Amino acid sequence: MNISSNSMAHAIAILFIVFSFLFIPASTLFESEQEGYISAVISNKGLDFAKDLLIEKAVSSMIPLQLSDIEKSVKIPVIGKVQLRLSDIIIYSVDIASSSVETGESGIVLVASGATANLSMDWGYSYKAWVITISDKGTAIVQVHGMVVVLNVALINQEGTLKLLLLDCGCHVEDIYIKVDGGASWLYQGIIDAFQGKIVSAVEDAIVKKIREGIIKLDSLLQSLPKQMQVNGVVALNVTFVDDPVLSNSSVELEINGLFTGADGVSVSNYYYYHKGSQTFLSSTGSAKMVEISLHENVFHSAASVYFKANYMRWIVDKIPDQSLMNTAGWRFIIPRLYEQYPDDDMNLSIAVTSPPIIRITDHDVDTTIYADLVIEVLSSGEVVPVACISLVISASCSAEIHGNNLAGSIRLVNFTSSLKWSNIGNLHMHLVQAVMSTILRTFFMPYLNLHLGKGFPLPLPHGFTLQNAEIILHDSRVTVCSDVSFTDRYDLNNQLPVSWQHALLDVHTKNQLCSLFM
Ligand SMILES: *[C@@H]1O[C@H](CO)[C@@H](O)[C@H](O)[C@H]1NC(C)=O
Ligand SMILES: *[C@@H]1O[C@H](CO)[C@@H](O)[C@H](O)[C@H]1NC(C)=O
Ligand SMILES: *[C@@H]1O[C@H](CO)[C@@H](O)[C@H](O)[C@H]1NC(C)=O
Ligand SMILES: *[C@@H]1O[C@H](CO)[C@@H](O)[C@H](O)[C@H]1NC(C)=O
Ligand SMILES: *[C@@H]1O[C@H](CO)[C@@H](O)[C@H](O)[C@H]1NC(C)=O
Repeated sequence: MNISSNSMAHAIAILFIVFSFLFIPASTLFESEQEGYISAVISNKGLDFAKDLLIEKAVSSMIPLQLSDIEKSVKIPVIGKVQLRLSDIIIYSVDIASSSVETGESGIVLVASGATANLSMDWGYSYKAWVITISDKGTAIVQVHGMVVVLNVALINQEGTLKLLLLDCGCHVEDIYIKVDGGASWLYQGIIDAFQGKIVSAVEDAIVKKIREGIIKLDSLLQSLPKQMQVNGVVALNVTFVDDPVLSNSSVELEINGLFTGADGVSVSNYYYYHKGSQTFLSSTGSAKMVEISLHENVFHSAASVYFKANYMRWIVDKIPDQSLMNTAGWRFIIPRLYEQYPDDDMNLSIAVTSPPIIRITDHDVDTTIYADLVIEVLSSGEVVPVACISLVISASCSAEIHGNNLAGSIRLVNFTSSLKWSNIGNLHMHLVQAVMSTILRTFFMPYLNLHLGKGFPLPLPHGFTLQNAEIILHDSRVTVCSDVSFTDRYDLNNQLPVSWQHALLDVHTKNQLCSLFM
């Protein structure tokens, strides 16, 4: 298999996920122990888009399609009975006039109808009588009309990967027209017309066989999709499919586990089973779009937990916009004893988040509570001396936005409290300290977080798909991205990660810093 056909097969495999699934009795949904935290609902419009794309890809990967030779003994005037052979029968173009996709109890049904196809072939015979050989040959063009292809497939979850089953596949040709060229073609037209039946069944059989082969290939590609997607050196996303795909008569819902784990594959948190209120959530604005991708707030918790446990939520600060605060002289009137004990010494601030940030998605915004300790450190005669620690409880509000295929955010300070945890420099005037903390949070900490949140985090979209005109809805503890998609056949075989994920990876490696805090 060469690279381009492999990438095409891959694209087709992905497309099949989109519109293939099996009906599941409602009862099994509630017996399931596991819950998906990222779900995708594909609307009618999305199914239509996928169907058109799939047909285009399937046709272009199918042709030219060579059929087996056909032989038949025929009676030619004057010459008598000969064995006529049709060879090099090749379907070289197919055109599909209309198609539809429907979900049903037994699976999903794709119908392509009003299709036409053109074939080319050679014909010939050679007839030996005593010592003379009579032979003739030429070419013929065949036009196939009114072809209908029906495909019924099911997609089920098999231990976290999707399994594709072909339930039924049929091809029916209504009518063909053969035009003979070469040789004494006027003589053979009627004879070759007698091959119609055989050519029709050869075309029907070849197309059904090709589709069966295609489904087997797609199934093995689906089985080979990884259950985990490495995002960067710190986190991986668990993309294990959970439950069987669920259908309504106008949409398809797929669920993946959707939680972040440490890059080494270790789960960081256990979430209790939660019961989803509504099974399929198609919002009123969203239903006009092709796809809705919903991320439960637990997805963000899991990311925050991994970054927290991997020690990415602590910073040594030695530069802030108000640089006077990085020397004890700047604190002379705020903490007089600090200046008395360590006159004109440089300082650093060490900020450490003390527990994974709490993230709550309300209908208006994403509320975040961050617990952090800020340690004031003094550089005194070459030694680092921690002098006091202030505990901060920061309330912030996040808004979500889409940049390319990334879910990004921006964070805004709502309020915060500060309290003295310990001090080697006596009691502090907390109302003065609070004002300094406010400056540090507003001028350094929030802009810093925004720098990272602004890049965002790539949504787990199949290769080649790009979000178009995305909107975000916050609802029911979920961030829902409603969007159309476009497809570009761009797939880098050397790197299984989408381009945007590689950027996230580089970011962590080169800067060795918090890549994205909450997402
Ligand atoms: C088949 O050939 C005919 C005549 O050349 C042409 O009009 C038609 O568009 C062709 N069909 C396809 C599917 O290429
Ligand atoms: C299927 O969709 C149609 C039109 O959208 C709707 O009228 C009908 O009630 C739906 N049927 C079921 C079983 O959901
Ligand atoms: C990934 O998700 C699946 C399905 O929910 C679960 O069984 C599996 O334990 C998860 N893997 C990790 C590493 O958390
Ligand atoms: C202050 O930060 C700089 C840069 O990170 C570091 O080189 C220095 O050792 C730090 N000093 C203290 C007191 O932590
Ligand atoms: C800070 O804001 C949060 C969220 O609006 C609110 O619940 C909390 O009471 C506020 N705290 C203070 C100290 O104002």
